[in-house]
Amino acid sequence: MRLPDIRGDVRRRDFLRWLAASPLLASSGGLAGLEPLIAQEAPRRVFDELVDRAGDALDVFDLQRVARANLPPAHYGYIMTGVDGEETYANNRAALERIYLRARRMVDVSALDMSTTLFGRAWPTPLVVAPCGSQRAFHPEGELAVARAARSRTHLQTLSTVTSTAVEEVNEAREEPVWYQLYVNPIGPRSWDGTVALIERTRHAGCPVLVLTVDLQGGSNRLTAERYARVDERDCRSCHRSGGRADPVKPMLRGLPGGPVDLDAGRGMTWAYIDKLRSVTDQRIVVKGLVTREDAELALRAGVDGIWVSNHGGRAEGSGRATIDALPEVAEAVGGRVPIIVDSGFRRGSDLVKGLAQGATAVAVGRPYLWGLGAFGQEGVERALDILVRELEITMRAIGAPSLQALGPHSIGVE
Ligand SMILES: Cc1cc2nc3c(=O)[nH]c(=O)nc-3n(C[C@H](O)[C@H](O)[C@H](O)COP(=O)(O)O)c2cc1C
Repeated sequence: MRLPDIRGDVRRRDFLRWLAASPLLASSGGLAGLEPLIAQEAPRRVFDELVDRAGDALDVFDLQRVARANLPPAHYGYIMTGVDGEETYANNRAALERIYLRARRMVDVSALDMSTTLFGRAWPTPLVVAPCGSQRAFHPEGELAVARAARSRTHLQTLSTVTSTAVEEVNEAREEPVWYQLYVNPIGPRSWDGTVALIERTRHAGCPVLVLTVDLQGGSNRLTAERYARVDERDCRSCHRSGGRADPVKPMLRGLPGGPVDLDAGRGMTWAYIDKLRSVTDQRIVVKGLVTREDAELALRAGVDGIWVSNHGGRAEGSGRATIDALPEVAEAVGGRVPIIVDSGFRRGSDLVKGLAQGATAVAVGRPYLWGLGAFGQEGVERALDILVRELEITMRAIGAPSLQALGPHSIGVE
């Protein structure tokens, strides 16, 4: 086999195409020396370099590889990190991969209805954009690029408390108020007055739903992020304070009233906090981060409007159970009384089907769209969303489910 001339204008991707076809690769076991820094990632493949444009990405992992190449290590590490040795992150994926689909044949799937309804608002698909902080770290347009993508594809977008873009600007780009995710002390406002002011701002901006995240009360041990930060040799002082941590003053936290630290919030938070929120807002309240039947029951008793089953994408507790394994008991406890959103580890349309079959009203993704953002900005986010929706469409037709209502526990199985 003759080697191509890689000194001249033959492009690197042509060389890689040649290499992919070469028996040399098969015998050497892959591209030695290009293993990822952290074991949780998909290994580099020889086809990585064939993604030049968003439209070239065939699955969301193609976007992940481009994002890894584009982003500074510390920022990519912030996306990827889970906690401890990444067991919760791995459990999320392993459990989804263990479940198989039970395909039914000879069902008329010529018309496909993927729509779902959340609080009276119908969405064409059940795919939701999860709240993720600091998106300008992944692309200069950050949350605005995500909002434009969510608008062009009509997806529900949830904005993080620690957004790097103000809610008013995001709502304008989304052309519809987003849902607002609420952190309280210590990640969000430290005082109750600060929380009230923040809520009032989101209410004034038209956000119909507050998503109270309750899974980081104990902090989180994000070792992967630390490891990536250590290999990042850039001078980060123009954006970060000394010590390398992100500037804690985010647009939504700037200028909030101070006062005594809210002892009911953060580490002291209990179910009574839902009443406290109710006393200051008429927005719907969804609680994010539940993974047990017991908590689902307590949440309903506390009067929440919706439940978001999540382990923060493996970023909260270590040794956590996969959310797809937690979902059935939560769905049973809820009994259809309030909508359920599930996230953590969903990467393919078939994964979405598995969540919907077990009682989720909608499925959210975090990293897949952040990879798209880091890879190609708005177009990358659109590509990530399009891939997942197309895969969902193919899977629903393939298993004979013309609508989400046709999905149920009978649609899946575990060996
Ligand atoms: C980089 C990053 C930042 C995140 N920031 C927040 C946040 O500010 N608030 C929140 O409730 N969840 C946050 N999450 C968790 C997501 O909302 C979501 O639960 C998780 O990403 C879903 O898992 P997946 O990334 O495997 O799809 C973040 C996740 C990532 C990856």
